[in-house]
Amino acid sequence: MLKTIAAFDRIGEENAFAVLARATELAAQGRDIINLGIGQPDFRTPDHVVEAAVKALRDGHHGYTPAVGIKPLREAVAADLHKRFQVEVSPDAVMIMPGGKPTMYMSILMFGEPGVEILYPDPGFPIYRSMIEYTGAMPVPVPIREENGFAFSAEETLKLITPRTRLLILNSPANPTGGVTPKPEVDRLVAGLERHPDVAIMSDEIYDQMLYDGETHVCLLSYPSIRDRLILLNGWSKTYAMTGWRLGYAVWPAKLYDYARKLAVNLYSCVNAATQWAGLAALTGPQDEVARMVAEFDRRRGVVVDGLNRLPGVSCATPKGAFYAFPNVKRTGWKAKALASTLLEETGVAIIGGPDFGILGEGYVRLSYANSTENILRALDRMGEFLASRKAA
Ligand SMILES: Cc1ncc(COP(=O)(O)O)c(C=O)c1O
Repeated sequence: MLKTIAAFDRIGEENAFAVLARATELAAQGRDIINLGIGQPDFRTPDHVVEAAVKALRDGHHGYTPAVGIKPLREAVAADLHKRFQVEVSPDAVMIMPGGKPTMYMSILMFGEPGVEILYPDPGFPIYRSMIEYTGAMPVPVPIREENGFAFSAEETLKLITPRTRLLILNSPANPTGGVTPKPEVDRLVAGLERHPDVAIMSDEIYDQMLYDGETHVCLLSYPSIRDRLILLNGWSKTYAMTGWRLGYAVWPAKLYDYARKLAVNLYSCVNAATQWAGLAALTGPQDEVARMVAEFDRRRGVVVDGLNRLPGVSCATPKGAFYAFPNVKRTGWKAKALASTLLEETGVAIIGGPDFGILGEGYVRLSYANSTENILRALDRMGEFLASRKAA
């Protein structure tokens, strides 16, 4: 018998990938599937970005790069953060990562061990909890409530901090709720965190450009009092429709930077070279496709929220960011996961049950509106017929 360590049995998953696999299987059997499950833009990566990668390979950029990423890209990230949020970031604090996920993995690995506590949003991105459990640390959910517009509450978060708290994970705009935490609430949280200098903060801002209704993004880098213990997670996946390229970045405090660099050397050496050059073109080239994509998401957001609010037993708050709707389905009588899986099997509509994002996700489902308006309308029709005719299981 192989004797692996117990920690591996505690690693969780992202059920969106399992739903994607099942949806693909059903489609291969000839079923007409509408996938509102997976969280990735349905747009193509902008042409000039693809061309930059092709050119990089033609120009001979096919070898290892520095583990922390090529310098022009780290400089471009620093310049982009300065342009958008007027924050000073040294390119030497920026590390190019193979996607957004490795930053959460590394941060949680740096702070998690038995006996310590890590705070994370619930409902929230499932990988946070999965990795916390892997390290043996105690996962402490920070409730994200519908009645609070799916923003985190500074007061509630601060109350959960104990002498054992090592790391606080924040995510706004948020997956799966589309919630955006308003600046006064972030201000209050940061003011409270000043009383807890030993707590590190990992701010997942991967949806920072996907904001609606005139919202502006509050980047945690803008708060000097926490800069020495703040890790910023961001990347290209969502903003530039580049999920499959695997490209992200982190801004690390000085001490952690070298830990992260060494982890990279041990784990993957460097990010794919051509992808890094593509990322440079994305940041420094025209941004009109980003604006077009966000405007299209905004239109679909209206369609999806209106449609959901017409369904029997469903009510949906208007999300202010990302590309997810997180309707309340409690009055349908269905348990959220049973509803999601029965809908997929019987109507071919793929959505994700709220409990896949945490205990407080019960009573909700997540729909990604990264799909055409036509498909969204067809999905809503099918859901309406289903809910009107089918009794809760
Ligand atoms: C909140 C959040 N953070 C991070 C990620 C991971 O991004 P990537 O695909 O770049 O690893 C996602 C992807 O869905 C996400 O929703």
